[in-house]
Amino acid sequence: MYRTHTCGELSINQVNEPVTLAGWVQTIRKFGAITFVDLRDRYGITQLLFGEDLNATLDANPLGREYVLQVSGKVQERSNKNANIATGDIEIIVNSFKILNKSAVPPFTIQDDTDGGDDLRMKYRFLDLRRNAVKKNLELRYAVGRSARNYLHENNFMDIETPFLIRSTPEGARDFVVPSRMNAGQFYALPQSPQTFKQLLMVSGYDRYYQIVKCFRDEDLRADRQPEFTQIDCEMSFVEQEDILNMFEGLIKRIFKDVKNIDYTEQVERMTWEDAMWQYGNDKPDIRFGMKLANLKSAFLTGGKIAATGALINGAGFGVFDNAETVLAIAAPGCSEYTRKQTDELTEWVKRPQIGMQGLVYIKCNADGTYKSSVDKFYPEEKLKAIADAAGAKAGDLVLILAGREERTRKATSELRLEMGKRLGMRKEDEFKLLWVMDFPLFEYAEEENRWVARHHPFTSPKPDHINVMINNNPVIENAEKYLEHPYSEIKANAYDMVLNGNEIGGGSIRIFQRPLQEKMFAALGMSEEEALHKFGFLLGAFEYGAPPHGGIAFGFDRLCSILGGSESIRDFIAFPKNNSGRDVMLDAPASIDAKQFDELQIKLDLK
Ligand code: AMO
Repeated sequence: MYRTHTCGELSINQVNEPVTLAGWVQTIRKFGAITFVDLRDRYGITQLLFGEDLNATLDANPLGREYVLQVSGKVQERSNKNANIATGDIEIIVNSFKILNKSAVPPFTIQDDTDGGDDLRMKYRFLDLRRNAVKKNLELRYAVGRSARNYLHENNFMDIETPFLIRSTPEGARDFVVPSRMNAGQFYALPQSPQTFKQLLMVSGYDRYYQIVKCFRDEDLRADRQPEFTQIDCEMSFVEQEDILNMFEGLIKRIFKDVKNIDYTEQVERMTWEDAMWQYGNDKPDIRFGMKLANLKSAFLTGGKIAATGALINGAGFGVFDNAETVLAIAAPGCSEYTRKQTDELTEWVKRPQIGMQGLVYIKCNADGTYKSSVDKFYPEEKLKAIADAAGAKAGDLVLILAGREERTRKATSELRLEMGKRLGMRKEDEFKLLWVMDFPLFEYAEEENRWVARHHPFTSPKPDHINVMINNNPVIENAEKYLEHPYSEIKANAYDMVLNGNEIGGGSIRIFQRPLQEKMFAALGMSEEEALHKFGFLLGAFEYGAPPHGGIAFGFDRLCSILGGSESIRDFIAFPKNNSGRDVMLDAPASIDAKQFDELQIKLDLK
């Protein structure tokens, strides 16, 4: 037997018991003839005491960091207790030991604060995974998965696997492709999600499906995006949007309870996409704090809500505002006393290439009721007051105003709001706020291609009262400039995203389940009938055989874990992640393959 106990479980209750432990040497401290060793395994750390009697044996068989060691001995109470670790009251007085395996000197120390840089830690990820900090993240991931499985099982969902070697599913990203040896010149695609399979399962009558499943997308990577990532993927039949929202609100609340012991009892807030864009400049608003955007000039969305405040800033001779497509403001609470240095720094912040603005205008709403701004020259005090009022500012606030092209200004103001929220401590790591964003546009217009693209995916149904708009109108846009006037630009989707603290953690929709509407959808996306049949014949065919009404959702499992774990990066929650260039630095993948493999695939490489 290698061990009687783990390194995390012995306590004062086992004093005098004989035990055998096995684990990795964390530290070695020699004091004259006696040696202390911290032995580590997955469960914790136990202090070992090698007495004088073992000194000579230890000298003959020296220990090193990360050696795999087995020791037998007796539990004794420590004179010098360590309240920071679970086993801190005891130590093992060692009788005998055996080095089960030696270790080379690790390239970084296996500690919470390690000396290894990111690349080094990724190259030796198997060592990095020994660190407590990483282990905790994987434990959290396991707890989230277990909680989800329990909830879904209790609610009659059935876990069904779907294939990885498939045909391309259009979800908006590029596919990873795999050449087929047996079908020379043909390729499988790895699924961007199991979308069409889960819909087919509904047609097959498995009315509640789930899968915790890998998805593959060849897209630009960010802290919250990996080329292969995991979804909690779900689908239900005979449901309306409301049923789905309730069921999956329940799932996330259960995960909160099981994993964080948080009772999230209030109903999850709901917001239309349009409100999210107007009030937060963003379709995944962080609603832990207010500081909503005020539109000081004009509409920036379809539907054309022209702000009545336009007259406030137009025509004062201030070209930046007069000529801007849009002018947006936020009121940073309690910041009216910002110094010149601080406002200059904020101006530099918005000018950074990632934000891309030309400058920043501010109005200080002083506590004494006076106003001071960077554009005093153009706007008399009563006008400044009117603008500040329109921005929802109170005495003591600092109004920050950005102007320019609509989309860029909206994104920048949204970023500025998040940054100010962070600086002002309004984005607390231990506060969790969920939000449903709903009623997304069904289509987006792709200018370069002069056609509509599906905002979610092509299987999403329009809102019931917009179905006729789709059926009765031709999708063709004669003049690209006029796409906003096309009836399709007004169609809203039966789609919803779940947002947690400003991150999109899940998204889904009620699906199209009737062939004519699905065909219309493919046609709207510019697919010819042949192309639609060629690509999606299986789905259109299945819709002929009694497809039930259905809908679903998929959560980003890695993302959910990273937010619950208080980290910006999903990599911390993936055992073997890729770096930002999509590389696995441990395996050094992707890599070239052998000539023989090319031969078998009948592929000749001819790189451009
Ligand atoms: P969607 O594309 O919105 O929907 O994906 C669902 C959720 O998956 C997460 N996610 C990612 N996480 C890490 N890395 C990525 N590259 C990545 N891409 C997406 C996000 C997102 O909310 N089939 C539909 C779901 C449905 O309609 O039921 C789908 O895949 O958290």
